[in-house]
Amino acid sequence: MDSLSTDVGFDVQVIRDQFPILHQKVNGYPLAYFDNAATTQKPIAVIESIGRYYANDNSNIHRGNHTLAERATSSFEESRIAVQNFINAPEKEEVIFTKGTSEGINLVASTFGRQILKPGDEVLISGMEHHSNIVPWQLICKEKGATLQVISVTDTGELDMASFQSLLSEKTKIVSVAFASNALGTINPVKEIIEQSHAVGARVLLDAAQAMAHLEVDVKKLNCDFLAFSGHKMYGPTGVGVLYGKRKLLESMPPYQGGGEMIKEVSFSGTTYAEIPYKFEAGTPNIADVIALKEAINFINKYGKSSIHAHETSLLRHATQLLRNVPNVDLYADIENKVSVISFTLKNMHPFDAGMLLDSRGIAVRTGHHCTQPLMSHFGIEGTIRASFSIYNTLEEIDRLAEVVHSISKRR
Ligand code: ALA
Repeated sequence: MDSLSTDVGFDVQVIRDQFPILHQKVNGYPLAYFDNAATTQKPIAVIESIGRYYANDNSNIHRGNHTLAERATSSFEESRIAVQNFINAPEKEEVIFTKGTSEGINLVASTFGRQILKPGDEVLISGMEHHSNIVPWQLICKEKGATLQVISVTDTGELDMASFQSLLSEKTKIVSVAFASNALGTINPVKEIIEQSHAVGARVLLDAAQAMAHLEVDVKKLNCDFLAFSGHKMYGPTGVGVLYGKRKLLESMPPYQGGGEMIKEVSFSGTTYAEIPYKFEAGTPNIADVIALKEAINFINKYGKSSIHAHETSLLRHATQLLRNVPNVDLYADIENKVSVISFTLKNMHPFDAGMLLDSRGIAVRTGHHCTQPLMSHFGIEGTIRASFSIYNTLEEIDRLAEVVHSISKRR
């Protein structure tokens, strides 16, 4: 095993060569990009797909009958099939393109939530959710007189399953939890959560934003009712995401937004809506980026999620071992079952200052509350320093991270 590669069967250098952005110096040092949970970098296949679309095929979709419109429409719909296969959705019509995870969750809260919730009903989320999986539920619960219940998080940064079981009841109508925590990396027992929620008749939405680039996600096996994710956290472009929903539910839901494309017929005496998925895709979508998302999926499939996860787990273990031995470092969720996120604080320095010092050495991390303020409050902190690893990161980059953290941990 050399200093770049872990022993998982792919050559990290070959992967790095596909990411032009990685080959630069930042503040005089080679860039070590560890902010992958916020957004991953994009391989050349994704970047070129966007340029190719605008150079050759740009046209509105599902509307024109000219050649460019047909080319754009068929590439767009090929992406839908690529997503269907990627998540093993039974039908391509169950794949709705959105702007990202937040929009997917908002869509479900404002359509399904608004339709089914009544005063006295409960929506169950967890204490480790991203604000995107908190605020839409607060809004709809307030509007409908329903109650938002919160599953506790343990001191090790895991979901407290006893708390989940004690909150789950016939009153629970929707359970919405993260597949993996963006702030800690914890992988949640989502299959168990889905089974137990279904047993009381609740529907389950998974926020899979932090799972898609790392873990097998099979909606048929999981039997989740909805699943939302973003393209940009899985090597795809920003501004494109997916909401998967079971056909029966999507068909029963009212539209999310009105506009072109989502209608069957419009008249002033009443409007009828298009079939799914188009009912939920009002307006001209983000065509170029939806098409490029297919290239991101191809990229992941080429190396395979299990090899990617194995590589990232080796990186995570290496980082954990090194940082555990640094004085003044407190690690959060120092547990086994995680995606490749390491979150820590320094006793002697604010996370923001540590982030600046790391940046001055070319190392990009995210610092702060990671859009999980309730989780930070649970730990009694304002924020953490978060390094999140990806397919193109190396052991040598992690050695650099540990070395800089070690040196700043001694500052007074
Ligand atoms: N949700 C993204 C993160 O965790 C932006 O950084």
